[in-house]
Amino acid sequence: MTRRVLIAGNWKMNLLRAEGEALAAALAENFAADGAADMLVCPPATLIAPVAAVLHGSAVSVGGQDCHMKPSGAHTGDVAAAMIKDLGGSYVIVGHSERRADHDESDATVKAKAEAALSAGLVPIVCVGETEAERDAGKAEAVVESQIRGSLPDGATETGIVIAYEPVWAIGTGRTPTIDDIASMHAHMRKVAASMLGGADALRLLYGGSVKPGNAVEILGLADVDGALVGGASLKAEDFLAIATAAG
Ligand code: PGA
Repeated sequence: MTRRVLIAGNWKMNLLRAEGEALAAALAENFAADGAADMLVCPPATLIAPVAAVLHGSAVSVGGQDCHMKPSGAHTGDVAAAMIKDLGGSYVIVGHSERRADHDESDATVKAKAEAALSAGLVPIVCVGETEAERDAGKAEAVVESQIRGSLPDGATETGIVIAYEPVWAIGTGRTPTIDDIASMHAHMRKVAASMLGGADALRLLYGGSVKPGNAVEILGLADVDGALVGGASLKAEDFLAIATAAG
């Protein structure tokens, strides 16, 4: 089974319009569609439209960082999945640990958001990952398994969703799990997902947390790692392109 690698950039709450357009233009110009990887950027909601305009006709896709669980309605400040789709988005991140922490999002909330994404025709990137205390207590695999079981949307298919493993303690810290820990976690995730989906050979599993050009070759070389979700290093075109090149 060949799974196309997905290199996804999570810009988080960064960049004003001109900066986002410049970054998108640098990626569009330098990323070739004929490589081994797909490239995606997830700007803040305010920049999805201008970034999509810059990326139009390029090999780089655009997505959102979050969506509401409802299709529309009285939810001040929120963004519906269909609105992301309407601006040219094809993916949306759901359940990022910063949203789980800052907005108290439970697995049930994340699952409902992923279902809203599927209904709108977006591919949800469902994020899971243990805290440092949970890893130290030997519970990392159990925590991630329970997040997957609670967060995967009904109606998910192997190619219709993506799961990203992002240990909370590795995000923005410069620290990563050992390569063996990433490998065994991803193998476990594939087993868990297969039991829910009836198979997971085609499912893409991303690793996220302090991915940089310097560690991307080793991480992306693992059999069950099908891409990366990149925060800090996705804000510099040179670094993000180098990570995509590391995908082979
Ligand atoms: P980081 O963030 O690459 O800056 O560690 C990853 C993420 O939060 O998606």
